[in-house]
Amino acid sequence: MEIRAIDTPLLDWTGDCLAIGLFEETEELQGDVAQLNEKFADALKEIIEETEFKGKEGSSAVTRIGGGSPVRKVFLIGLGNQETLKLDNVRRAGATVARLAKKEKCKTVGVNLPTANNDPAATVQAIAEGVQLASYQDNRFKSEPEDKGFCVERVDLLGFAGQEAAIARANSICAGVNLARELVAAPANEVTPITLAETAQKIAQEHGLQVEILEREDCEKLGMGAFLGVAQASDLPPKFIHLTYKPEGTPKRKLAIIGKGLTFDSGGLNIKAGPGSSIEMMKMDMGGAGATLGAAKAIAQLKPDVEVHFISAATENMISGRALHPGDILKASNGKTIEVNNTDAEGRLTLADALVFAEKLGVDAIVDLATLTGACIIALGDEIAGLFSPDDKLAQQLAQAAEAAGEKLWRMPFEEKYFEGLKSGIADFKNTGPRGGGSITAALFLKQFVKETPWAHLDIAGPVWTDKENGCNNPGATGYGVRTLVHWVLSQ
Ligand code: BES
Ligand code: MN
Ligand code: ZN
Repeated sequence: MEIRAIDTPLLDWTGDCLAIGLFEETEELQGDVAQLNEKFADALKEIIEETEFKGKEGSSAVTRIGGGSPVRKVFLIGLGNQETLKLDNVRRAGATVARLAKKEKCKTVGVNLPTANNDPAATVQAIAEGVQLASYQDNRFKSEPEDKGFCVERVDLLGFAGQEAAIARANSICAGVNLARELVAAPANEVTPITLAETAQKIAQEHGLQVEILEREDCEKLGMGAFLGVAQASDLPPKFIHLTYKPEGTPKRKLAIIGKGLTFDSGGLNIKAGPGSSIEMMKMDMGGAGATLGAAKAIAQLKPDVEVHFISAATENMISGRALHPGDILKASNGKTIEVNNTDAEGRLTLADALVFAEKLGVDAIVDLATLTGACIIALGDEIAGLFSPDDKLAQQLAQAAEAAGEKLWRMPFEEKYFEGLKSGIADFKNTGPRGGGSITAALFLKQFVKETPWAHLDIAGPVWTDKENGCNNPGATGYGVRTLVHWVLSQ
């Protein structure tokens, strides 16, 4: 699909369909939209009346233009209230346009949407993101493509000539989001620690990044007992992935992004059993790693003045004669000992050694993303990630980045007192505490592996996956986190 920003007047544009954004409570069609209505013999007015189209956010109407018109169809796209129009409204409008174009078999689309936030560049970027993200279709595992291979070929954003850079930005971000979606949606017999490491190597090769894969022996030498404990039952070798983007010249800042990389989480001997445990969904437990690699792909193309380290301790959490016994004690690479009272709280064990590794790089900030707890889904539902950080400034930066990116997150309390719940009689602490506040104790556990670097943790267990069409997301993996990470890195 090609997206262009052009200045062809609405009345002169020709192609399969024109998509026109309308605000709620628009009494009369105005300006060139009114003229277009005249040109099309009142077709717009008629469809508005027939379908009682009110311009509500998320609503749309389609009409066919007869009489051999050079425009075959018109889509009306509801934008909601004019006063509260935000970037995410135009992003979602872009998504609606893409879905309708596909449904109505329109290969060339003209889009007439207003500027949001008084910012044409951000508007174009948001629309282009919405269009591309909603067009995503995963046919990799189908013998016949679901959509019979139909593709929208060209989308023209009218009235935005000169915004090519914004489109290029959207293209890079969407390439990153779609990589994350592919990684998360692929099953555990397809995406393994080995293939995840290969993906990192491929990104490095294609975009000129440095990559280092630490093998089991390398991790042993570094004392990564927590990570290796989780990995010990799997027949597949663990891979500690470290991908580095370095800008030309001296970087303004050095950052680390860490993603939980469990390519499958069976729970271990505390196996995920029974209904509701969703063991069959646990291929998505590398959603943090997916977002990390997706962000790496985007950032490598966007080339900010910031050094970024992309890290994932990738493995599976399996059962075998070599599995961790519940109650085993592990020693992490910072010397801390952990009583594993639940083998299903494995993500935090892998992240522990990744956090220690990241801090040793001497970075200015660390952000980790992890499908860490069911408790976070109970707290915030499927659409909102939990943000945990003892650092107000970093938390604010991430909240702003998420807002601009159109991804939802909510800051959770970092209640140090709850660390009491992780007290162990025999080791330094346990890996799980009481049921209540489970996402907070998980964050407090992670904090034990960060000494002084500003750090934030995003629990993305909910938004990494969606069962239904939602905003720019189609059912399945969402690639959550990539957009927020890219915005955050670019804002440094
Ligand atoms: N990967 C899971 C968390 C998860 C649950 C992600 C549902 C996505 C959907 C994590 O490793 C886990 O099993 N967490 C346990 C922690 C508990 C044992 C303290 C949980 O949330 O039940
Ligand atoms: Mn688990
Ligand atoms: Zn897990």
